[in-house]
Amino acid sequence: MTTEGVYDESTPLAREVAEITRRRLALEGASLPLPATTRVFTVSNQKGGVGKTTTTVNLAAALARSGARVLVIDLDPQGNASTALGVEHRAETPSVYDVVVGDSPLADVVQKSPEFETLYCVPATIHLAGAEIELVSLVAREQRLRTALDAFLAASGEPFHYVFIDCPPSLGLLTINAFVAAREVLIPIQCEYYALEGLSQLLNSIQLIERHLNPQLRVSTILLTMYDARTNLANQVVSDVREHFPQQVLETVIPRSVRISEAPSYGQSVISYDEGSPGSLSYLEAAAEIARRGEGA
Ligand SMILES: Nc1ncnc2c1ncn2[C@@H]1O[C@H](COP(=O)(O)OP(=O)(O)OP(=O)(O)O)[C@@H](O)[C@H]1O
Ligand SMILES: [Mg+2]
Repeated sequence: MTTEGVYDESTPLAREVAEITRRRLALEGASLPLPATTRVFTVSNQKGGVGKTTTTVNLAAALARSGARVLVIDLDPQGNASTALGVEHRAETPSVYDVVVGDSPLADVVQKSPEFETLYCVPATIHLAGAEIELVSLVAREQRLRTALDAFLAASGEPFHYVFIDCPPSLGLLTINAFVAAREVLIPIQCEYYALEGLSQLLNSIQLIERHLNPQLRVSTILLTMYDARTNLANQVVSDVREHFPQQVLETVIPRSVRISEAPSYGQSVISYDEGSPGSLSYLEAAAEIARRGEGA
């Protein structure tokens, strides 16, 4: 390659750098509206490894960075969201288990994430693995998270703007608790073959919850994740999902990115780990869309 080629604006690399700079400037210049009342999202898809936790953590971080007060509730015994947000979640740590199975108030288990001033997390520990079974015999077993969250939000001096609940990859009682506690469902869909399989089961479950347990619940947001522009398959999934859910799918698509997958091993979101990277910019853009669409969208 000649040096002339390196500085040539028409090279793919130069175009990419210019594009990233343009996106960064657009994000820097914009402030995001804050919702008047708390928006509570359940991030759910019973398919494993589609980007639920990554999406929860990075959207929460992106919104907190813009000044919103954000709470993440880790409702997955794997505790991945707790790890990514750098909060303590060893077995003996007070956690979401003590809230849904015990009777601890949420305020007793919430921790501040070192990520951003206004980002908080309710951690999950390994004890949560038994909760599906322990919940079965409890009174109002589907409402336990809702009751605790409502009490917490009502009592918190400074209001929270967003709550994100990270679900395990199943449609068990923990996920049902999340659906009952939330008003909005955010479904991450991986841009891969089989992406849409299981989606109708998820939508049926949400409809049942809406009918019987939480009339306010609706699928407000769908986010396409792990997009690889080089594959026809990914483009096919994007157009299929957009065709089926034109209202819900965000314009922003999250690319496959090594930086996104590395960040949790440093106990960080990609936003703080490498803010200018394409993966971070995409989550910042997705967060901006969510903030601008508002609850009424
Ligand atoms: N955009 C991305 N680019 C590259 N890797 C990603 C991306 N999003 C997620 N990953 C990686 O894919 C794996 C699965 O992601 P994640 O844990 O967020 O999925 P999940 O739906 O929460 O999984 P589970 O169902 O086990 O809870 C992780 O190793 C994560 O780091
Ligand atoms: Mg997860």
